[in-house]
Amino acid sequence: LCHFLSVEGLNKDILTQIIHKAGGYLLPNGQIQNSTELDGCTVMNLFFENSTRTRTTFEVAEKRLGANVLNLDIAKSSTSKGESLADTLWNLQAMTADMFVVRHYSSGAMHFMAQKVCPSVAVINAGDGQHAHPTQAMLDMLTIHREAKKPFDELSVAIIGDVKHSRVARSDICALQTLGVKDLRVVAPKTLLPKGIERYGVSVFDDMDKGIAGVDVLIGLRIQNERIGSPLLPSTAEYFKMYGITDKRLKLADKDAIVMHPGPMNRGVEIASDVADGVQSVILKQVNNGIAVRMAVMAMAMEGQRSLRN
Ligand code: CP
Repeated sequence: LCHFLSVEGLNKDILTQIIHKAGGYLLPNGQIQNSTELDGCTVMNLFFENSTRTRTTFEVAEKRLGANVLNLDIAKSSTSKGESLADTLWNLQAMTADMFVVRHYSSGAMHFMAQKVCPSVAVINAGDGQHAHPTQAMLDMLTIHREAKKPFDELSVAIIGDVKHSRVARSDICALQTLGVKDLRVVAPKTLLPKGIERYGVSVFDDMDKGIAGVDVLIGLRIQNERIGSPLLPSTAEYFKMYGITDKRLKLADKDAIVMHPGPMNRGVEIASDVADGVQSVILKQVNNGIAVRMAVMAMAMEGQRSLRN
């Protein structure tokens, strides 16, 4: 790796390597092992969209790896005066940036940065538009690897909710298929599914009870009202009744099933609070695993850049 833009195009060996490297930073007491792999490197976090989990866990991960960390305040930067993305990046590169961690509202912005603007700076995708959220996918894979009771090739996984607007769903589907999951389902009303979703080799259910029957992993997705553009119809209450992950519904899944959600959660819309906070929930473990996965990906990308330079 020299950049980390997407899980698409990465093979099973690389995804497994990321999972194992990330697992190596996780100590048995839930703490994270520090490392010196980014000693002397300058990492710049450029978040053109809001974030709580991704931004913060990247910063924690960078510091755990020994990097010098700079958070650009986009709202106060000269992008607000119309400076182009390329000019902004060239200026930051001149300030000796070794790595950009970027969240951007435009799908494909990362590929433009990594391929056309600054190929010698490692670009890490922290979420671009509706396209990809590869570190979220990898922290989800690490969480499944550690928390589910079966290996990937025996697992049945249901991704539930607003698949249409979800970069997490796209990246999760790709990673799960690359890792050879046995049975991959998407569960949503037709209005929240992208056209032609079947071509990704998933089984599609618009009946929630059938869609989660016997599954080992439930991944709830946030209803993305800001991308839907108009309020969800008929109502969030109706959506919760039909597709909400409730304690009663969870009993239809395997008895050892785990419940995941990338956050932020709409409690009482896509998930009930007693499930989100219940014993089968691994939602906060996902957040902690995010630090380890981001450490692994950044260390691997920096190693790739160093080998290109030498
Ligand atoms: N899961 C996720 O990307 O959360 P944030 O938007 O808070 O980073």
